[in-house]
Amino acid sequence: MSTLDKTSLKLPVENPEAEDFLPLLGTDYIELYVGNAKQAAHYYMSAWGFQPLAYAGLETGKKDTVSYVLQQGKIRIMLTSPLKSGGDINRHIDTHGDGVKVIALWVDDATKSYQETTKRGAESYMEPVELSDGEGTVVCSGIHTYGETVHIFVERSAYKGVFLPGFQKWEPLYRPNDTGLKYVDHMVGNVGWNEMNKWCEFYAKVMGFAQLVSFDDKDISTEYTALMSKVMSNGNGRIKFPINEPADGRKKSQIEEYIEFYNGAGVQHMALATDNIIATVTALQNRGVEFLKVPATYYEDVLDRVGEIDEDLKPLSELGILIDRDEEGYLLQIFTKPILDRPTMFIEIIQRKGAKSFGKGNFKALFESIEREQAARGTL
Ligand code: FE2
Repeated sequence: MSTLDKTSLKLPVENPEAEDFLPLLGTDYIELYVGNAKQAAHYYMSAWGFQPLAYAGLETGKKDTVSYVLQQGKIRIMLTSPLKSGGDINRHIDTHGDGVKVIALWVDDATKSYQETTKRGAESYMEPVELSDGEGTVVCSGIHTYGETVHIFVERSAYKGVFLPGFQKWEPLYRPNDTGLKYVDHMVGNVGWNEMNKWCEFYAKVMGFAQLVSFDDKDISTEYTALMSKVMSNGNGRIKFPINEPADGRKKSQIEEYIEFYNGAGVQHMALATDNIIATVTALQNRGVEFLKVPATYYEDVLDRVGEIDEDLKPLSELGILIDRDEEGYLLQIFTKPILDRPTMFIEIIQRKGAKSFGKGNFKALFESIEREQAARGTL
C-alpha cells in the first residue's frame, strides 16, 4: 500500500488518466431494495425533502413489484419492494436488509457501454433492452459490480417521459419542502478483506476509471480500528467511487461491522452535495435526521488546521459540521448515523468550496465518533 500521494490531491475536474471509452454523463438514479417502499418513500420525503416524481405498481400494470421514485436537485432515488413472497428481491432484503441494489449511470449509448465493459471482463447483469411508451424509448443495460450491487447504463436521449417507460407521474398531495440537496458527489463501496485492489482494478480495466487518491491504515486509523481506501474516478470526474476495505486493528472496524450486517460487500454511503450546508443540515436535523457528533474540542483548533473559511464557526460547531482543506480549497461535511435498522448504510452531506478531496483531515475524529456508536451497539 502506498501512503497518501500528495500530488494526487491536486484533483483536476477532469481525470486525464482515466480512459474514456465509457463516457458517463452523471448518476442517473440510485435504486434501493427495501422492505416497505411506501413507508420508505415517506421517510425520504419527510426527513430529506425529496420530491415525489414517479410510481410503478399494481395500478400501472406491475404484478410483482412496486417502485417509488423521488427527486431532489439532480438526485433521483428509486425505492423498490416486492409484492409477493419468495422472489429475488425478497432474498436480497433477507440477506442484506434494505440497501442499494443499483447505481444507474446516464450514458449516450447503453448498447456500446454494455459492449465495451463486458468485453473488458464485466459480468453481464442485463443485456441492452429497449423500453418504450408514448413518451419515447429508453435503452438500458447492466453489469455486476461488488457484492450484489449492479450498474445499469441508461440511455434516455429519445425519451420525454417523467422517469422511465412503465412509470407514471406520482403526484401525492403531501409535498414537504426540499432541503437544498443538489447532486450525488460520490458513492462509496465497502468490500471484504484484501478485495479493495481487485475492485479498483475492475473500475480501471472494465470502466476506464483512474485512481484519484489512496489512503492506507496509517491515514485512517484510530487506537482501535483501521481501514484502507482508494478513490476511483471516471474521465470527466463526474463519477467518483471510493472503495474501502478493513485493515487490522485492535477491535472490529466499521467496515467489518458493515460487512457482517450486510452479509458482504455493498454501498456504505452516498455523499449528497449542497451549496449551503448550514441551511441543509439545520433543515435535516429539524426533520429528524440524526448525525454523528464529534467532541466540542474538535472546534478549538480546527481553524489552525484549515485556515480561514467564509462561514461562522458557531453554527458549524452547533450542528457538528466538519471542515477540511486541500491544495485547492476547503470542504464542509457531516455524516448521518446509519439510516437503517442494520448498521450498514449512511449518508454524507458535503459542500465543496474548491476542495476536490474527501475529508482526510476529519477521518480520525470521525472514526472515533463511529466507534462510540459501535461500542453502544456492542459491535466494536
Ligand atoms: Fe464520503
